[in-house]
Amino acid sequence: MQKLEVLGANKLKGQIKISGSKNASLPILAATLLSNKKINLSNVPKVKDIETMIELLRSLGSKIKFVNNKIKINNSNQFKKFASYNLVKTMRAGILVLGPLLAKFGSAKVSLPGGCAIGTRPVDIHLKGLSKLGVKFKILEGYVYANAPKGLIGSKIKFSKISVGATENLIIAACFAKGETVLSNCAIEPEIKDLVNFLNKVGCDIKWVSKRKIKIIGVTKIKDTSYTVMFDRIEAGTYLIAAVLTNGNLTIQNINPSTIKTEINILKKIGAKIKLKRNSINIIGNSKIKNINLKTSPYPGFPTDLQAQIMVLLCKAKKCSYIKEDIFENRFMHVAELNRMGANISIKGNVAYISGKTNFIGAELMATDLRASVSLVLAALNAKGKSVINRIYHLDRGYEHIEKKLKKVGAKIKRVY
Ligand code: EPZ
Repeated sequence: MQKLEVLGANKLKGQIKISGSKNASLPILAATLLSNKKINLSNVPKVKDIETMIELLRSLGSKIKFVNNKIKINNSNQFKKFASYNLVKTMRAGILVLGPLLAKFGSAKVSLPGGCAIGTRPVDIHLKGLSKLGVKFKILEGYVYANAPKGLIGSKIKFSKISVGATENLIIAACFAKGETVLSNCAIEPEIKDLVNFLNKVGCDIKWVSKRKIKIIGVTKIKDTSYTVMFDRIEAGTYLIAAVLTNGNLTIQNINPSTIKTEINILKKIGAKIKLKRNSINIIGNSKIKNINLKTSPYPGFPTDLQAQIMVLLCKAKKCSYIKEDIFENRFMHVAELNRMGANISIKGNVAYISGKTNFIGAELMATDLRASVSLVLAALNAKGKSVINRIYHLDRGYEHIEKKLKKVGAKIKRVY
């Protein structure tokens, strides 16, 4: 089992290039199933979740080449409709192939994703929305058997709860539905906007009607195209936090600062000095970290995917803070490990109370999920002494070349095989 060894504490100084977005690439890759031709994608991050999605598409008959962050897909022979458990269980976004398979073939058999460390991850909102498009479901032995006997028929659908994945699945499915579909109470994460931009580029007809309402007119086919995926705003936020935490000076490149206004404002309140450019941010840390209370919420609120990371930073504040996790039911798995490094965080329900004034001490640590594992790396960068982080396969699901990027700006970090 690979591990990361980190020697703290030192300041991070220099430039970090942000990779393409994992959470934009995954729905766009699923949406390529709508095509029976050729699609080229660039700026796709080489991370485990992308490899798993590519394996899933290959198991459905897609011919795929993935070299130097570029993906070439040929779907002229794509005709399978069965997404197996062994591929969907490790990467919940596998459920996103359900919409495109139903749109293209009118039937599909897709494994239910099952839960993970951060929550049960149900897909009821996905299925309820698809049934409004005329899909009939049967759940048997952990699989969704889906059929649309009359094909998909456009409809008006209001999501009972804001869901990124359900919004993506329904947008993709509605692209080939007969007539007009209007989706309300949609998630509006930038990754969803990127998906819509991709779909319109291949010839779909999708328009945002208002903030959380979108209208899709069904089309019958889509054309070949090339598309560049947006930057990974969660990776960018992670390195911005690392700069403040180590009282360093980083320039984060290949980003669109207007997409992460909430994170930038929070970091300014905490005491960071920030200069924005068209596609980069220069951030300078501050030895005096101010405490702040926040809650996670759907975009444009503070992202749940940065909750573990900002918690590490708030451990360094002079006074107490609290963070309310309003999206997932079990997303504080990093707290126990941070407390083992000297933090003093207590949990009541879905609120974590952070005491501040923490002097992190290096320790042997266990990663539990993707974003919890990167919070341990951040704490280790600030800790006195050596930390060893186990089970870093969690980290490799969503951070491209993390130790290379950190080493380049002065971190003492190495992967141990
Ligand atoms: C996406 O997950 C992201 N994953 C997650 O990032 C992110 O944390 C999440 O959105 C919230 O922003 C990808 O984009 C691949 P949801 P998703 O549907 O779509 C409940 C990471 O670290 N819900 O918006 O699964 C659900 O349980 C990952 O990169 C239902 O109840 O999130 C959760 O409590 C982790 N029924 C809430 O809604 C449903 O049918 C939000 O989930 C669907 C969701």
